[in-house]
Amino acid sequence: AAAAQLAVGQGAVAAQHSNESAVLTILYGSQTGNAKAVATKVKAAAEQQGIAVKLTDIGSYKTTQLAKEKYLLIVTSTYGEGEPPESAVAFHKFLFSKKAPKLDGLKYAVLGLGDTSYEFFCKTAIDFDEQLAALGAQRLHARADLDVDYAAQAASWTETAVQAFAPELKQATGSAQVIAWPGATATAAHDSAYTKESPFAAELVVNQKITGRNSTKDVRHIEISLADSGITYQPGDALGVYFLNDAKAVDAILAATGLDGATEVQLAGQSYSLTTALTEHLELTQSYPSFVEKYAQATANSELLELVKDKTALRQYLDNRQTLDVILQNPAPLTAQQLVDALRKQQPRLYSIASSQAEVGDEVHLTVGVVRYDAFGSSHLGGASGFLAERLEEGAQVKVFVEHNDNFRLPDHETPVIMIGPGTGIAPFRAFLQERDQAGATGQNWLFFGNPHFTQDFLYQVELQDYLKRGVLSKLDVAFSRDQAQKVYVQDKLRLKAEEIWTWLQQGAYLYICGDGNKMAKDVHQALLDIAQQQGGLSAEQAEQYFDDLRQAKRYQKDVY
Ligand code: 2AM
Repeated sequence: AAAAQLAVGQGAVAAQHSNESAVLTILYGSQTGNAKAVATKVKAAAEQQGIAVKLTDIGSYKTTQLAKEKYLLIVTSTYGEGEPPESAVAFHKFLFSKKAPKLDGLKYAVLGLGDTSYEFFCKTAIDFDEQLAALGAQRLHARADLDVDYAAQAASWTETAVQAFAPELKQATGSAQVIAWPGATATAAHDSAYTKESPFAAELVVNQKITGRNSTKDVRHIEISLADSGITYQPGDALGVYFLNDAKAVDAILAATGLDGATEVQLAGQSYSLTTALTEHLELTQSYPSFVEKYAQATANSELLELVKDKTALRQYLDNRQTLDVILQNPAPLTAQQLVDALRKQQPRLYSIASSQAEVGDEVHLTVGVVRYDAFGSSHLGGASGFLAERLEEGAQVKVFVEHNDNFRLPDHETPVIMIGPGTGIAPFRAFLQERDQAGATGQNWLFFGNPHFTQDFLYQVELQDYLKRGVLSKLDVAFSRDQAQKVYVQDKLRLKAEEIWTWLQQGAYLYICGDGNKMAKDVHQALLDIAQQQGGLSAEQAEQYFDDLRQAKRYQKDVY
Protein backbone atom coordinates (compact mmCIF):
# COMPACT_ATOMS: atom_id res chain seq x y z
CA ALA A 1 0.00 0.00 0.00
CA ALA A 2 2.84 2.34 0.88
CA ALA A 3 4.43 1.78 -2.52
CA ALA A 4 1.18 2.49 -4.35
CA GLN A 5 0.64 5.64 -2.34
CA LEU A 6 4.12 6.78 -3.14
CA ALA A 7 3.63 6.22 -6.84
CA VAL A 8 0.39 8.18 -6.88
CA GLY A 9 1.92 10.94 -4.79
CA GLN A 10 4.88 11.34 -7.05
CA GLY A 11 2.71 11.53 -10.10
CA ALA A 12 0.63 14.28 -8.52
CA VAL A 13 3.69 16.23 -7.54
CA ALA A 14 5.24 15.90 -10.98
CA ALA A 15 2.04 17.27 -12.47
CA GLN A 16 2.12 20.26 -10.15
CA HIS A 17 5.68 21.01 -11.12
CA SER A 18 5.96 21.22 -14.84
CA ASN A 19 9.24 23.02 -14.23
CA GLU A 20 11.39 20.17 -12.94
CA SER A 21 14.41 22.41 -12.50
CA ALA A 22 12.76 23.82 -9.39
CA VAL A 23 13.54 20.70 -7.39
CA LEU A 24 16.57 19.96 -5.25
CA THR A 25 17.28 16.25 -5.39
CA ILE A 26 18.97 15.00 -2.24
CA LEU A 27 20.54 11.57 -2.36
CA TYR A 28 21.94 9.75 0.63
CA GLY A 29 24.35 6.84 0.67
CA SER A 30 24.00 5.43 4.14
CA GLN A 31 24.99 2.19 5.79
CA THR A 32 24.41 2.83 9.47
CA GLY A 33 21.79 5.56 9.12
CA ASN A 34 23.97 8.60 9.79
CA ALA A 35 24.05 9.94 6.24
CA LYS A 36 20.31 9.31 5.97
CA ALA A 37 19.69 11.27 9.19
CA VAL A 38 21.84 14.18 7.99
CA ALA A 39 20.17 14.18 4.56
CA THR A 40 16.78 14.29 6.27
CA LYS A 41 17.92 17.37 8.19
CA VAL A 42 19.18 19.00 5.00
CA LYS A 43 15.75 18.35 3.49
CA ALA A 44 14.01 20.05 6.42
CA ALA A 45 16.38 23.03 6.26
CA ALA A 46 15.87 23.39 2.51
CA GLU A 47 12.10 23.17 2.81
CA GLN A 48 12.19 25.88 5.44
CA GLN A 49 13.78 28.06 2.80
CA GLY A 50 10.90 27.27 0.46
CA ILE A 51 12.91 24.87 -1.66
CA ALA A 52 11.11 21.88 -3.11
CA VAL A 53 13.08 18.77 -2.19
CA LYS A 54 13.08 15.20 -3.36
CA LEU A 55 14.90 12.97 -0.87
CA THR A 56 15.92 9.55 -2.15
CA ASP A 57 18.05 6.64 -0.99
CA ILE A 58 20.86 6.56 -3.54
CA GLY A 59 20.29 2.81 -3.79
CA SER A 60 16.78 3.39 -5.16
CA TYR A 61 17.76 6.24 -7.47
CA LYS A 62 17.32 5.65 -11.19
CA THR A 63 20.64 6.64 -12.71
CA THR A 64 18.89 7.37 -16.01
CA GLN A 65 17.37 10.33 -14.17
CA LEU A 66 20.72 11.99 -13.50
CA ALA A 67 21.09 13.72 -16.86
CA LYS A 68 17.78 15.51 -16.23
CA GLU A 69 18.68 16.83 -12.77
CA LYS A 70 19.39 20.51 -12.31
CA TYR A 71 20.13 20.62 -8.59
CA LEU A 72 21.70 17.77 -6.67
CA LEU A 73 22.97 17.40 -3.14
CA ILE A 74 24.61 14.16 -2.02
CA VAL A 75 25.32 13.07 1.54
CA THR A 76 27.39 9.91 1.66
CA SER A 77 29.46 7.92 4.06
CA THR A 78 32.51 5.79 3.20
CA TYR A 79 33.34 2.29 4.38
CA GLY A 80 36.33 0.00 4.78
CA GLU A 81 39.10 0.86 2.40
CA GLY A 82 37.46 3.87 0.83
CA GLU A 83 34.44 2.01 -0.47
CA PRO A 84 30.93 3.38 -0.98
CA PRO A 85 28.23 2.15 1.36
CA GLU A 86 26.49 -0.86 -0.20
CA SER A 87 23.52 1.21 -1.33
CA ALA A 88 25.79 3.62 -3.25
CA VAL A 89 27.86 1.02 -5.08
CA ALA A 90 25.73 1.04 -8.23
CA PHE A 91 25.57 4.85 -8.46
CA HIS A 92 29.32 5.08 -7.87
CA LYS A 93 29.99 2.56 -10.62
CA PHE A 94 27.64 4.35 -12.98
CA LEU A 95 29.30 7.72 -12.38
CA PHE A 96 32.70 6.31 -13.34
CA SER A 97 31.43 4.23 -16.26
CA LYS A 98 31.21 4.99 -19.95
CA LYS A 99 27.48 5.39 -19.48
CA ALA A 100 27.88 8.47 -17.26
CA PRO A 101 26.27 11.45 -19.02
CA LYS A 102 27.62 14.97 -19.51
CA LEU A 103 26.33 17.05 -16.64
CA ASP A 104 26.87 20.66 -17.76
CA GLY A 105 23.37 21.56 -16.65
CA LEU A 106 23.82 20.32 -13.09
CA LYS A 107 24.63 22.30 -9.96
CA TYR A 108 25.60 20.24 -6.94
CA ALA A 109 27.13 19.90 -3.51
CA VAL A 110 28.51 16.89 -1.66
CA LEU A 111 28.82 16.22 2.06
CA GLY A 112 31.02 13.37 3.26
CA LEU A 113 30.74 11.42 6.49
CA GLY A 114 33.64 9.23 7.54
CA ASP A 115 36.04 8.19 10.20
CA THR A 116 39.55 9.64 10.43
CA SER A 117 40.87 6.38 11.85
CA TYR A 118 40.60 4.97 8.32
CA GLU A 119 43.21 5.68 5.69
CA PHE A 120 40.80 6.56 2.88
CA PHE A 121 38.80 9.05 4.88
CA CYS A 122 35.61 10.19 3.07
CA LYS A 123 36.85 8.72 -0.20
CA THR A 124 33.36 8.11 -1.61
CA ALA A 125 32.36 11.74 -1.07
CA ILE A 126 35.60 12.88 -2.69
CA ASP A 127 34.95 10.53 -5.63
CA PHE A 128 31.43 11.87 -6.15
CA ASP A 129 32.52 15.47 -5.79
CA GLU A 130 35.40 15.18 -8.24
CA GLN A 131 33.61 12.99 -10.75
CA LEU A 132 30.53 15.23 -10.93
CA ALA A 133 32.88 18.12 -11.67
CA ALA A 134 34.74 16.04 -14.26
CA LEU A 135 31.40 15.34 -15.97
CA GLY A 136 30.84 19.06 -16.30
CA ALA A 137 28.63 19.78 -13.30
CA GLN A 138 29.07 22.99 -11.34
CA ARG A 139 29.96 22.75 -7.65
CA LEU A 140 27.67 25.19 -5.89
CA HIS A 141 29.09 24.67 -2.43
CA ALA A 142 32.40 23.26 -1.21
CA ARG A 143 32.43 19.71 0.08
CA ALA A 144 33.04 19.04 3.76
CA ASP A 145 34.54 15.78 5.02
CA LEU A 146 33.29 15.08 8.51
CA ASP A 147 34.56 12.74 11.21
CA VAL A 148 32.34 10.52 13.42
CA ASP A 149 31.63 13.47 15.70
CA TYR A 150 29.93 15.24 12.83
CA ALA A 151 26.80 16.82 14.35
CA ALA A 152 27.89 20.46 14.78
CA GLN A 153 29.76 20.67 11.48
CA ALA A 154 26.96 18.93 9.61
CA ALA A 155 24.54 21.55 10.93
CA SER A 156 26.68 24.48 9.82
CA TRP A 157 27.43 22.90 6.43
CA THR A 158 23.71 22.32 5.92
CA GLU A 159 22.99 25.95 6.62
CA THR A 160 25.57 27.30 4.19
CA ALA A 161 24.77 24.71 1.52
CA VAL A 162 21.07 25.52 1.65
CA GLN A 163 21.96 29.21 1.42
CA ALA A 164 23.94 28.46 -1.74
CA PHE A 165 21.01 26.65 -3.35
CA ALA A 166 18.24 28.91 -2.11
CA PRO A 167 18.58 31.86 -4.52
CA GLU A 168 18.78 29.50 -7.49
CA LEU A 169 15.84 27.35 -6.57
CA LYS A 170 13.61 30.13 -5.32
CA GLN A 171 14.19 31.95 -8.58
CA ALA A 172 13.27 28.88 -10.54
CA THR A 173 10.21 28.15 -8.41
CA GLY A 174 9.05 31.69 -8.15
CA SER A 175 7.53 30.92 -4.77
CA ALA A 176 8.65 30.12 -1.29
CA GLN A 177 5.93 27.67 -0.49
CA VAL A 178 6.74 24.58 1.53
CA ILE A 179 5.91 21.42 -0.33
CA ALA A 180 5.32 18.19 1.52
CA TRP A 181 6.82 15.43 -0.54
CA PRO A 182 5.37 12.00 -0.12
CA GLY A 183 8.68 10.19 0.43
CA ALA A 184 8.97 11.36 4.02
CA THR A 185 5.64 9.99 5.18
CA ALA A 186 6.42 6.59 3.72
CA THR A 187 9.34 6.13 6.13
CA ALA A 188 7.90 8.05 9.06
CA ALA A 189 5.23 5.40 9.54
CA HIS A 190 7.57 2.89 11.20
CA ASP A 191 9.68 5.35 13.20
CA SER A 192 9.13 5.24 16.96
CA ALA A 193 9.67 7.96 19.54
CA TYR A 194 13.01 6.39 20.46
CA THR A 195 15.95 7.41 18.34
CA LYS A 196 19.72 7.62 18.37
CA GLU A 197 19.33 10.98 20.16
CA SER A 198 16.81 9.67 22.70
CA PRO A 199 17.24 5.91 23.10
CA PHE A 200 15.02 3.55 25.07
CA ALA A 201 16.27 2.15 28.38
CA ALA A 202 15.57 -1.53 27.74
CA GLU A 203 16.08 -4.54 29.95
CA LEU A 204 18.64 -7.24 29.24
CA VAL A 205 16.76 -10.52 29.51
CA VAL A 206 19.22 -13.14 28.31
CA ASN A 207 23.00 -13.21 27.83
CA GLN A 208 23.99 -16.70 26.74
CA LYS A 209 27.31 -17.85 25.36
CA ILE A 210 26.59 -19.89 22.23
CA THR A 211 30.12 -20.90 21.30
CA GLY A 212 31.73 -23.90 23.00
CA ARG A 213 34.20 -23.91 25.87
CA ASN A 214 37.07 -24.63 23.50
CA SER A 215 36.07 -22.15 20.84
CA THR A 216 38.46 -19.43 19.73
CA LYS A 217 35.42 -17.14 19.77
CA ASP A 218 33.02 -15.85 22.39
CA VAL A 219 29.64 -15.27 20.75
CA ARG A 220 26.63 -14.29 22.84
CA HIS A 221 22.96 -14.72 22.14
CA ILE A 222 21.43 -11.59 23.66
CA GLU A 223 17.73 -11.02 24.32
CA ILE A 224 16.51 -7.55 25.19
CA SER A 225 12.97 -6.58 26.19
CA LEU A 226 11.35 -3.66 24.37
CA ALA A 227 8.21 -3.96 26.50
CA ASP A 228 6.17 -0.73 26.78
CA SER A 229 8.41 1.09 24.31
CA GLY A 230 6.19 0.83 21.25
CA ILE A 231 9.35 0.14 19.26
CA THR A 232 8.83 -1.97 16.17
CA TYR A 233 11.38 -3.38 13.77
CA GLN A 234 11.58 -5.56 10.70
CA PRO A 235 13.97 -8.37 9.81
CA GLY A 236 16.99 -6.65 8.26
CA ASP A 237 16.99 -3.76 10.75
CA ALA A 238 19.78 -3.13 13.23
CA LEU A 239 19.74 -2.29 16.93
CA GLY A 240 21.85 0.65 18.12
CA VAL A 241 23.38 -0.06 21.53
CA TYR A 242 24.91 2.45 23.95
CA PHE A 243 27.19 1.14 26.68
CA LEU A 244 29.00 2.01 29.89
CA ASN A 245 32.77 1.88 29.87
CA ASP A 246 34.55 -0.39 32.32
CA ALA A 247 34.81 1.27 35.76
CA LYS A 248 38.29 -0.22 36.20
CA ALA A 249 39.45 1.42 32.98
CA VAL A 250 38.02 4.75 34.11
CA ASP A 251 39.84 4.45 37.46
CA ALA A 252 43.09 3.58 35.69
CA ILE A 253 42.75 6.67 33.50
CA LEU A 254 42.15 8.87 36.54
CA ALA A 255 45.24 7.39 38.18
CA ALA A 256 47.40 7.84 35.07
CA THR A 257 46.42 11.50 34.70
CA GLY A 258 46.20 12.31 38.40
CA LEU A 259 42.69 13.67 37.90
CA ASP A 260 39.81 13.72 40.37
CA GLY A 261 36.72 11.98 39.01
CA ALA A 262 34.45 14.51 40.73
CA THR A 263 35.82 17.40 38.65
CA GLU A 264 33.10 19.06 36.62
CA VAL A 265 33.58 19.02 32.85
CA GLN A 266 31.64 20.37 29.86
CA LEU A 267 30.56 18.14 27.03
CA ALA A 268 28.33 19.25 24.15
CA GLY A 269 26.85 22.07 26.24
CA GLN A 270 26.17 19.94 29.33
CA SER A 271 28.13 19.53 32.53
CA TYR A 272 29.04 16.18 34.03
CA SER A 273 31.49 14.85 36.56
CA LEU A 274 34.63 13.58 34.84
CA THR A 275 33.79 10.03 35.97
CA THR A 276 30.33 10.19 34.40
CA ALA A 277 31.68 11.67 31.17
CA LEU A 278 34.33 8.94 30.91
CA THR A 279 31.94 6.15 31.84
CA GLU A 280 28.90 7.10 29.79
CA HIS A 281 29.72 9.58 27.08
CA LEU A 282 33.24 9.19 25.73
CA GLU A 283 35.02 6.67 23.55
CA LEU A 284 37.75 4.80 25.46
CA THR A 285 38.00 1.55 23.52
CA GLN A 286 38.11 2.36 19.81
CA SER A 287 41.24 4.33 18.98
CA TYR A 288 41.54 7.22 16.57
CA PRO A 289 44.36 9.52 15.38
CA SER A 290 42.77 12.78 16.56
CA PHE A 291 42.99 11.64 20.19
CA VAL A 292 46.72 10.93 19.99
CA GLU A 293 47.29 14.36 18.46
CA LYS A 294 45.30 16.22 21.08
CA TYR A 295 46.63 14.17 23.99
CA ALA A 296 50.22 14.64 22.78
CA GLN A 297 49.71 18.39 22.66
CA ALA A 298 47.96 18.65 26.03
CA THR A 299 50.64 16.59 27.75
CA ALA A 300 53.56 17.96 25.65
CA ASN A 301 54.66 14.40 24.93
CA SER A 302 57.50 14.80 22.42
CA GLU A 303 57.50 11.15 21.35
CA LEU A 304 53.80 11.18 20.53
CA LEU A 305 54.15 14.59 18.88
CA GLU A 306 56.77 13.07 16.61
CA LEU A 307 54.62 10.01 15.94
CA VAL A 308 51.53 11.94 14.82
CA LYS A 309 53.55 13.51 11.98
CA ASP A 310 53.79 10.11 10.30
CA LYS A 311 50.25 8.99 9.40
CA THR A 312 51.29 5.44 8.50
CA ALA A 313 53.30 4.94 11.68
CA LEU A 314 50.42 6.40 13.70
CA ARG A 315 47.93 4.02 12.17
CA GLN A 316 50.26 1.11 12.91
CA TYR A 317 50.71 2.32 16.49
CA LEU A 318 46.93 2.35 16.95
CA ASP A 319 46.48 -1.08 15.39
CA ASN A 320 45.79 -3.12 18.52
CA ARG A 321 45.78 -0.24 21.00
CA GLN A 322 42.62 1.08 22.56
CA THR A 323 42.42 4.75 23.43
CA LEU A 324 42.82 3.85 27.07
CA ASP A 325 46.12 2.08 26.24
CA VAL A 326 47.44 5.32 24.78
CA ILE A 327 46.71 7.08 28.08
CA LEU A 328 47.94 4.29 30.35
CA GLN A 329 51.17 3.94 28.39
CA ASN A 330 51.77 7.70 28.43
CA PRO A 331 50.69 8.77 31.89
CA ALA A 332 50.89 12.53 32.33
CA PRO A 333 48.99 15.35 33.94
CA LEU A 334 46.52 17.47 31.93
CA THR A 335 43.30 19.19 32.89
CA ALA A 336 40.05 17.26 33.07
CA GLN A 337 38.59 19.45 30.34
CA GLN A 338 41.62 18.88 28.10
CA LEU A 339 41.13 15.13 28.46
CA VAL A 340 37.43 15.38 27.65
CA ASP A 341 38.10 17.60 24.63
CA ALA A 342 40.64 15.12 23.28
CA LEU A 343 38.22 12.20 23.44
CA ARG A 344 35.48 11.43 20.92
CA LYS A 345 31.88 11.18 21.95
CA GLN A 346 30.76 7.58 22.29
CA GLN A 347 29.01 6.27 19.19
CA PRO A 348 26.40 3.57 19.67
CA ARG A 349 27.30 0.22 18.11
CA LEU A 350 24.90 -1.26 15.56
CA TYR A 351 24.04 -4.96 15.65
CA SER A 352 22.00 -6.72 12.98
CA ILE A 353 18.80 -7.88 14.63
CA ALA A 354 18.55 -11.67 14.97
CA SER A 355 14.81 -11.99 15.60
CA SER A 356 11.41 -11.33 14.04
CA GLN A 357 8.68 -9.64 16.06
CA ALA A 358 6.24 -12.07 14.52
CA GLU A 359 7.96 -14.69 16.68
CA VAL A 360 9.40 -12.84 19.70
CA GLY A 361 6.85 -10.07 20.22
CA ASP A 362 8.33 -7.19 22.18
CA GLU A 363 11.79 -8.73 22.45
CA VAL A 364 14.76 -8.11 20.25
CA HIS A 365 17.58 -10.66 19.85
CA LEU A 366 21.20 -10.09 18.88
CA THR A 367 24.14 -12.30 18.02
CA VAL A 368 27.15 -10.54 19.49
CA GLY A 369 30.75 -11.49 18.82
CA VAL A 370 32.72 -10.38 21.86
CA VAL A 371 35.85 -8.43 21.01
CA ARG A 372 38.46 -9.86 23.41
CA TYR A 373 42.23 -10.02 23.13
CA ASP A 374 45.41 -9.78 25.18
CA ALA A 375 47.84 -6.97 24.54
CA PHE A 376 50.50 -5.17 26.56
CA GLY A 377 50.11 -7.58 29.44
CA SER A 378 46.41 -7.07 29.97
CA SER A 379 43.12 -8.39 28.62
CA HIS A 380 41.16 -6.10 26.34
CA LEU A 381 37.43 -6.06 25.74
CA GLY A 382 35.38 -4.26 23.10
CA GLY A 383 33.22 -1.37 24.31
CA ALA A 384 29.67 -2.52 23.60
CA SER A 385 30.39 -6.24 23.29
CA GLY A 386 32.33 -6.22 26.57
CA PHE A 387 29.50 -4.35 28.25
CA LEU A 388 26.79 -6.73 27.00
CA ALA A 389 28.79 -9.87 27.69
CA GLU A 390 30.59 -9.09 30.94
CA ARG A 391 29.35 -6.00 32.72
CA LEU A 392 25.60 -5.85 32.18
CA GLU A 393 23.65 -8.03 34.62
CA GLU A 394 20.52 -9.76 33.36
CA GLY A 395 17.63 -7.51 34.45
CA ALA A 396 19.72 -4.34 34.15
CA GLN A 397 19.17 -1.59 31.59
CA VAL A 398 20.78 -0.85 28.26
CA LYS A 399 19.98 2.11 26.02
CA VAL A 400 18.91 1.08 22.54
CA PHE A 401 17.18 2.30 19.40
CA VAL A 402 16.22 0.71 16.09
CA GLU A 403 18.06 1.70 12.94
CA HIS A 404 15.84 0.79 10.01
CA ASN A 405 17.56 -0.62 6.98
CA ASP A 406 15.45 -0.68 3.84
CA ASN A 407 18.44 -2.05 1.94
CA PHE A 408 18.20 -5.46 3.58
CA ARG A 409 14.68 -6.75 3.17
CA LEU A 410 12.95 -10.03 2.44
CA PRO A 411 11.03 -10.27 -0.85
CA ASP A 412 7.40 -11.44 -1.01
CA HIS A 413 6.52 -14.78 0.55
CA GLU A 414 6.82 -16.79 -2.68
CA THR A 415 10.28 -15.74 -3.81
CA PRO A 416 13.20 -18.04 -2.99
CA VAL A 417 16.13 -16.60 -1.02
CA ILE A 418 19.80 -17.55 -0.76
CA MET A 419 21.43 -16.36 2.47
CA ILE A 420 25.18 -16.33 3.03
CA GLY A 421 26.07 -15.57 6.63
CA PRO A 422 29.23 -17.00 8.21
CA GLY A 423 30.07 -16.17 11.82
CA THR A 424 27.82 -13.56 13.43
CA GLY A 425 26.61 -12.87 9.88
CA ILE A 426 23.97 -15.48 10.71
CA ALA A 427 22.05 -12.87 12.76
CA PRO A 428 19.67 -11.32 10.19
CA PHE A 429 19.03 -14.73 8.63
CA ARG A 430 17.75 -16.07 11.94
CA ALA A 431 15.34 -13.11 11.77
CA PHE A 432 14.45 -13.94 8.15
CA LEU A 433 13.74 -17.57 8.99
CA GLN A 434 11.60 -16.67 11.98
CA GLU A 435 9.66 -14.22 9.84
CA ARG A 436 9.10 -16.66 6.98
CA ASP A 437 8.21 -19.46 9.38
CA GLN A 438 5.59 -17.33 11.15
CA ALA A 439 4.18 -16.03 7.88
CA GLY A 440 3.96 -19.50 6.41
CA ALA A 441 5.94 -18.23 3.44
CA THR A 442 6.19 -20.73 0.62
CA GLY A 443 9.38 -19.39 -0.96
CA GLN A 444 12.42 -21.67 -0.60
CA ASN A 445 15.19 -20.73 1.84
CA TRP A 446 18.82 -21.73 1.40
CA LEU A 447 21.39 -20.86 4.05
CA PHE A 448 25.18 -20.95 3.85
CA PHE A 449 26.87 -20.77 7.24
CA GLY A 450 30.52 -21.04 8.21
CA ASN A 451 32.70 -20.90 11.33
CA PRO A 452 35.90 -22.54 12.58
CA HIS A 453 34.67 -25.78 14.22
CA PHE A 454 31.48 -27.84 14.03
CA THR A 455 31.56 -28.83 17.72
CA GLN A 456 32.36 -25.34 19.05
CA ASP A 457 30.96 -22.79 16.65
CA PHE A 458 27.76 -24.05 15.04
CA LEU A 459 25.66 -21.04 16.09
CA TYR A 460 21.95 -21.83 16.53
CA GLN A 461 22.58 -25.44 15.48
CA VAL A 462 19.46 -26.86 17.13
CA GLU A 463 17.18 -24.18 15.69
CA LEU A 464 18.62 -24.49 12.20
CA GLN A 465 18.33 -28.25 12.20
CA ASP A 466 14.75 -27.93 13.35
CA TYR A 467 14.00 -25.48 10.52
CA LEU A 468 15.55 -27.97 8.14
CA LYS A 469 13.46 -30.81 9.51
CA ARG A 470 10.28 -28.75 9.27
CA GLY A 471 11.12 -27.61 5.75
CA VAL A 472 11.33 -23.93 6.66
CA LEU A 473 14.95 -24.18 5.64
CA SER A 474 15.06 -25.90 2.26
CA LYS A 475 18.83 -26.28 2.22
CA LEU A 476 21.65 -25.73 4.68
CA ASP A 477 25.30 -25.76 3.64
CA VAL A 478 27.97 -25.38 6.28
CA ALA A 479 31.69 -24.65 6.01
CA PHE A 480 33.64 -25.46 9.16
CA SER A 481 36.90 -23.93 8.14
CA ARG A 482 39.26 -25.63 10.58
CA ASP A 483 37.80 -29.09 10.85
CA GLN A 484 40.14 -30.39 8.14
CA ALA A 485 43.68 -29.69 6.96
CA GLN A 486 42.52 -27.42 4.13
CA LYS A 487 40.43 -24.35 4.99
CA VAL A 488 36.86 -24.57 3.69
CA TYR A 489 34.83 -21.38 3.43
CA VAL A 490 31.24 -20.55 2.44
CA GLN A 491 32.41 -19.51 -1.03
CA ASP A 492 33.89 -22.99 -1.55
CA LYS A 493 30.48 -24.45 -0.70
CA LEU A 494 28.86 -22.02 -3.17
CA ARG A 495 31.21 -23.18 -5.90
CA LEU A 496 30.39 -26.81 -5.19
CA LYS A 497 26.71 -25.97 -5.67
CA ALA A 498 27.28 -23.72 -8.68
CA GLU A 499 24.72 -25.35 -10.93
CA GLU A 500 21.93 -25.18 -8.37
CA ILE A 501 22.82 -21.61 -7.34
CA TRP A 502 22.54 -20.55 -10.95
CA THR A 503 19.19 -22.32 -11.32
CA TRP A 504 17.84 -20.56 -8.23
CA LEU A 505 19.04 -17.19 -9.55
CA GLN A 506 17.43 -17.89 -12.92
CA GLN A 507 14.23 -18.63 -11.02
CA GLY A 508 14.31 -15.20 -9.43
CA ALA A 509 15.97 -15.96 -6.08
CA TYR A 510 17.09 -13.06 -3.91
CA LEU A 511 20.69 -13.17 -2.69
CA TYR A 512 21.89 -11.91 0.70
CA ILE A 513 25.32 -11.65 2.27
CA CYS A 514 25.94 -10.71 5.90
CA GLY A 515 29.19 -10.66 7.86
CA ASP A 516 32.77 -9.62 7.30
CA GLY A 517 33.02 -7.04 4.55
CA ASN A 518 36.78 -6.86 4.23
CA LYS A 519 37.44 -10.35 2.96
CA MET A 520 34.45 -12.69 3.09
CA ALA A 521 31.92 -10.60 1.16
CA LYS A 522 34.51 -9.89 -1.56
CA ASP A 523 35.51 -13.52 -1.88
CA VAL A 524 31.86 -14.58 -2.00
CA HIS A 525 31.20 -11.98 -4.70
CA GLN A 526 34.08 -13.39 -6.73
CA ALA A 527 32.67 -16.91 -6.37
CA LEU A 528 29.31 -15.64 -7.61
CA LEU A 529 30.96 -13.99 -10.62
CA ASP A 530 32.72 -17.25 -11.41
CA ILE A 531 29.46 -19.18 -11.11
CA ALA A 532 27.70 -16.80 -13.52
CA GLN A 533 30.50 -17.21 -16.04
CA GLN A 534 30.77 -20.95 -15.71
CA GLN A 535 27.07 -21.79 -15.49
CA GLY A 536 25.56 -18.95 -17.49
CA GLY A 537 28.26 -18.75 -20.14
CA LEU A 538 28.72 -15.05 -19.40
CA SER A 539 31.90 -13.11 -20.04
CA ALA A 540 33.65 -11.50 -17.07
CA GLU A 541 32.07 -8.18 -18.01
CA GLN A 542 28.61 -9.66 -18.46
CA ALA A 543 28.87 -11.38 -15.09
CA GLU A 544 29.67 -8.02 -13.44
CA GLN A 545 26.70 -6.53 -15.23
CA TYR A 546 24.49 -9.42 -14.17
CA PHE A 547 25.13 -8.76 -10.48
CA ASP A 548 24.92 -4.98 -10.94
CA ASP A 549 21.45 -5.55 -12.38
CA LEU A 550 20.53 -7.85 -9.50
CA ARG A 551 21.70 -5.17 -7.08
CA GLN A 552 19.60 -2.52 -8.81
CA ALA A 553 16.60 -4.82 -8.69
CA LYS A 554 17.21 -5.25 -4.91
CA ARG A 555 17.83 -8.93 -5.54
CA TYR A 556 21.40 -8.77 -4.24
CA GLN A 557 21.65 -7.19 -0.80
CA LYS A 558 24.51 -6.96 1.65
CA ASP A 559 24.83 -6.17 5.32
CA VAL A 560 28.57 -6.25 5.85
CA TYR A 561 30.88 -4.79 8.44
P1 2AM B 1 38.96 -19.04 9.68
O1 2AM B 1 38.92 -18.11 10.86
O2 2AM B 1 39.15 -20.46 10.07
O3 2AM B 1 39.97 -18.63 8.64
C1 2AM B 1 33.56 -16.98 10.46
O4 2AM B 1 34.51 -16.09 10.96
C2 2AM B 1 34.19 -17.96 9.50
O5 2AM B 1 34.61 -17.24 8.33
C3 2AM B 1 35.40 -18.68 10.04
O6 2AM B 1 35.23 -20.03 9.75
C4 2AM B 1 36.54 -18.09 9.23
O7 2AM B 1 37.57 -19.00 8.97
C5 2AM B 1 35.84 -17.79 7.94
N1 2AM B 1 36.59 -16.91 7.06
C6 2AM B 1 37.77 -16.27 7.27
N2 2AM B 1 38.15 -15.59 6.17
C7 2AM B 1 37.20 -15.81 5.23
C8 2AM B 1 37.04 -15.39 3.89
N3 2AM B 1 37.93 -14.60 3.27
N4 2AM B 1 35.93 -15.80 3.23
C9 2AM B 1 35.03 -16.61 3.84
N5 2AM B 1 35.14 -17.04 5.09
C10 2AM B 1 36.21 -16.65 5.79
